[in-house]
Amino acid sequence: MIILAVVNQKGGVGKTTTAVTLAHGLAQRDYHTLLIDLDAQGNVADCLGLETGNDLYRLLFPGMALPLAQGVTPSGRPRLDVVRSDRTTTQLKIALGAADMREYVLDDLLKDASYDVVILDCAPSMDVLHTAAMVAAHYILIPTRLDQLAVKGVRDVLTTLQGLSRISTCQLGAIIPTFYDRQTNESLLQLKHLARHFKEQVWPPIPQDVHCRESTRYGKTLWEYAPQARALLGYTHTRGQSVGGYIQMVDRVEEVLLR
Ligand SMILES: Nc1ncnc2c1ncn2[C@@H]1O[C@H](COP(=O)(O)OP(=O)(O)OP(=O)(O)O)[C@@H](O)[C@H]1O
Ligand SMILES: [Mg+2]
Repeated sequence: MIILAVVNQKGGVGKTTTAVTLAHGLAQRDYHTLLIDLDAQGNVADCLGLETGNDLYRLLFPGMALPLAQGVTPSGRPRLDVVRSDRTTTQLKIALGAADMREYVLDDLLKDASYDVVILDCAPSMDVLHTAAMVAAHYILIPTRLDQLAVKGVRDVLTTLQGLSRISTCQLGAIIPTFYDRQTNESLLQLKHLARHFKEQVWPPIPQDVHCRESTRYGKTLWEYAPQARALLGYTHTRGQSVGGYIQMVDRVEEVLLR
């Protein structure tokens, strides 16, 4: 089993879109997948057309926690289960703040899990669940918008990861540039800037695509709502090859991280 955490302390960079699209993409490729929402906004459920729910609270509340199998919700898609979140996650974080070994709550929850892949969708904040995600995960994926502050945002995550090296063996899996707009110089400039700093750890960018927002409105994943979406397909190179897009990202995750 491989555990991937999708993290960036900055908000609105495409964490949830990446987590949901990757999770459903892997489930469609026959991986038994669990997607866990660690954010009180409960956006994973919105993206999947489910009611938000207190699954996370029921699975992690100190002293009252359920076993994993009793707390997950079927997503309605083959091989994809979810742990939903809602406003009760705020109370959960307060309770965990006073608990012993709180950094290990997700590690403990997942230790006997029988999934092929677990994907953790983190909130845009440095909280107890964020730390627990970085302790439980094997790799982190860092989506980032292509703007002036992208390098700083990625560095912040890596600094946090480094600070946990005593209790975590989690490594950087990939930096995923999002909202890539081929029409603007700014996107390309920032992509090059990011690549200068982080080299091959920067994966091909996900195009900006209105289908991302629309699919959430309809409670469908991109694969269901718009299989021909630019955000999935990426751009076609002059040599006919596709670059970027979530399809290529899922390929790479399979090749590089799930080996
Ligand atoms: N590639 C994209 N192109 C256009 N819109 C996108 C793209 N990726 C995500 N979006 C949209 O941008 C908004 C923010 O995306 P998302 O919720 O995935 O970010 P997030 O990092 O999870 O946010 P938060 O930090 O609040 O959890 C959503 O409305 C989403 O549909
Ligand atoms: Mg989110």
